[in-house]
Amino acid sequence: MTFKQKTFAIFLSIAAVFSAKAAEIPPYLDDSLPAELRIEDALSRMTLDEKIALIHAQSKFSTPGCPRLGIPEIWMSDGPHGVRVEFDWDEWKWAGWTNDSCTAMPALTCLAATFNPELAGRYGKVIGEEARFRKKDIILGPGVNIYRTPLSGRNFEYMGEDPVLASRMVVPYIQGVQSQGVSACLKHFALNNQEHDRDLVNVVVDERALNELYLPAFRAGVVDGGVWSVMGSYNRYKGTHCTHNDTLVNSILKGQWGFDGAFITDWGSAHDTREAALYGLDIEMGSWTNGLTWGKSNAYNNYYMAEPLKAMVRAGEIDEKYVDEKVRRVLRLCLRTNMNRARPWGSMHTDEHLALAREVSRQGIVLLKNEKRTLPLKAASARRIAVIGENAVKSLTMGGGSSELKPRTEISPLAGLTERFGADNVVFSLGYASGDPDYSRELPSPYDADSLRRAALEAARQADIVLFIGGLNKNYRQDCEGDDRLTYDLPFGQNELIADLAKVNPNIAVIIVSGNAVAMPWADKVPAIVQSWYLGSMGGAALADIISGDANPSGKLPFSIPYKLDDCAAHAFGERGYPGVDGNVYYDEGLLVGYRWHDTKRIPARFPFGHGLSYTDFKYSGLKTDRKEYSPADTITVTMRLENTGSVAGAESVQFYASQKSPRLSRPARELKAFAKTSLRPGENTEVEVRIPAAELAYFDDSQHRWVLDPDEFTIHAGSSSTDLRGKASFRIKSPNSLAIK
Ligand code: GLC
Repeated sequence: MTFKQKTFAIFLSIAAVFSAKAAEIPPYLDDSLPAELRIEDALSRMTLDEKIALIHAQSKFSTPGCPRLGIPEIWMSDGPHGVRVEFDWDEWKWAGWTNDSCTAMPALTCLAATFNPELAGRYGKVIGEEARFRKKDIILGPGVNIYRTPLSGRNFEYMGEDPVLASRMVVPYIQGVQSQGVSACLKHFALNNQEHDRDLVNVVVDERALNELYLPAFRAGVVDGGVWSVMGSYNRYKGTHCTHNDTLVNSILKGQWGFDGAFITDWGSAHDTREAALYGLDIEMGSWTNGLTWGKSNAYNNYYMAEPLKAMVRAGEIDEKYVDEKVRRVLRLCLRTNMNRARPWGSMHTDEHLALAREVSRQGIVLLKNEKRTLPLKAASARRIAVIGENAVKSLTMGGGSSELKPRTEISPLAGLTERFGADNVVFSLGYASGDPDYSRELPSPYDADSLRRAALEAARQADIVLFIGGLNKNYRQDCEGDDRLTYDLPFGQNELIADLAKVNPNIAVIIVSGNAVAMPWADKVPAIVQSWYLGSMGGAALADIISGDANPSGKLPFSIPYKLDDCAAHAFGERGYPGVDGNVYYDEGLLVGYRWHDTKRIPARFPFGHGLSYTDFKYSGLKTDRKEYSPADTITVTMRLENTGSVAGAESVQFYASQKSPRLSRPARELKAFAKTSLRPGENTEVEVRIPAAELAYFDDSQHRWVLDPDEFTIHAGSSSTDLRGKASFRIKSPNSLAIK
């Protein structure tokens, strides 16, 4: 025991003697006592059997607690966008309950595209309220793995390619969830940037990219967000599974960052008892599964941290203190959740939840291109609207893997557009069809593609305007967990169909629904393109809000859209860069992921990170910093003036990128350091201000294993995207030498 724990033990025994309630309520159940004291008391009462039981699963999504002491079971559920259905006790099979539908919130790529942290906080609160109502103690999300390749099956569950965007958005999400007495579970720690070979792939990445790109959002979630649980990833780092990895878990997560919560496996990501015991794993779930399918029935006693660990402790091969530390963290999680008598009671599928789902969708949809003022679609000119494409009607809350949802409401794009413009003005044609959603295989489409295509072209011919609604979906090898896309192209013959539709009717808007970038060979042939997302329950209504102009689009791309796959860093180094060779994937691009790659290598993206148009226009002016010189301990106040010079109200997310003049180590051309979303009425202008701690201009020096800030000249650029830069201001960081910070 540490000195602190011994002190607690002594205090505990004194408290027990004098506490008038000693006979009635044992300290570990006494809310008036400090949490750490209660934890020590509970721990002191537990047998080894009870401790071991507490740290591994008893069913697909629960752990047993300690029945004798009245310490509750912990119940978990996916996922980041809503509370998943109930499963059978020990099967990957829906339990068939009728009270387990939910509000399906938009996917996290959409939330990230809002560039609105305040919205993320409200989003998290909805998730927390619905998880609490469903009696869940942990919601298994959010995911903040960096978007490295547009092929990755799970990018739709994450927050894009930039660590500052992901960090600013994930903190309020976590705080929103946990305000309801439910633990968020930050995942997948770490380096889960592809699904292909996810169970085993060993990520080879330099320490600088790890610290500057792949870890910051996790660090923010722990240090700023105070997340109560973190989930380990399936893959390996330095040859060891991330779920029990001394460097990642003991040194960084629990050591440097001071994480005091519970570190949980991904389902089936534990592989070794000794490593699990010594390298920081606290709760083992889902062993002998791949997280989506198969598993040995009721094998819970065989889990790595079950009988095998007990035997090693009894044999003196593992010190029981390692088990005690795990139990402390599980008990701390209980005190924060299911033993917290003051937590709220939650709610489900309220009007407020649905309204927020719609607002996040409205603010996340990105207008990529809009020539000839094709959009918004004014009712007067919209007599005959041809809605074409399977994503206008296909449920996109199903499938995709563990983030699948059973929504109580799901308004399709076709339903939303029909409601908004009137059934007499809207015709629908499927245009193309995919197979049914399936986690592990691609199912053929049941329809004749040519007949679908002919019918769509005829509908387009007769229409005033065509709204093509396609993209990816949640089928296997689309936007789906467990594996990755095999091509950057749109599936199911959409590219050819879009090109043909544009020929028969040039008045066409293409709406891509996806969680990833796709190739757009037809982009120059259509006047309008919208990047939409998996929008969940209110998606169709929100899309109609944007198409009709009832809402002005304000979303910004959370990832770059390259012209072709080879223009993407992960695909510039052959198979070793993706999907890897001989079980290793090499992040040779280092820091240069996404816009960092495009801007530094001067390889233009078709649509850059941070890009998003509006139905109005904004003027930037007067960018300046409050001083010309700063010390590393200072905060830089950046101000500029933003004016709505158009004819409708709108919101703009001004992005602030930093560049260093003469860095000692090479740095990306520019790096996002702050952003601010501002709503303005026509003709209105306002001052936009952001504060950037000088320390956030530092880089991680591999050779010194620490953050360093050089005395040098820096420039802040204000941008409407990572390439549409509309102002800059320079200043100096003065310090005697390169300062180590953080
Ligand atoms: C899955 C996913 C993880 C999910 C868990 C439980 O394999 O990787 O995100 O929370 O298993 O379903």
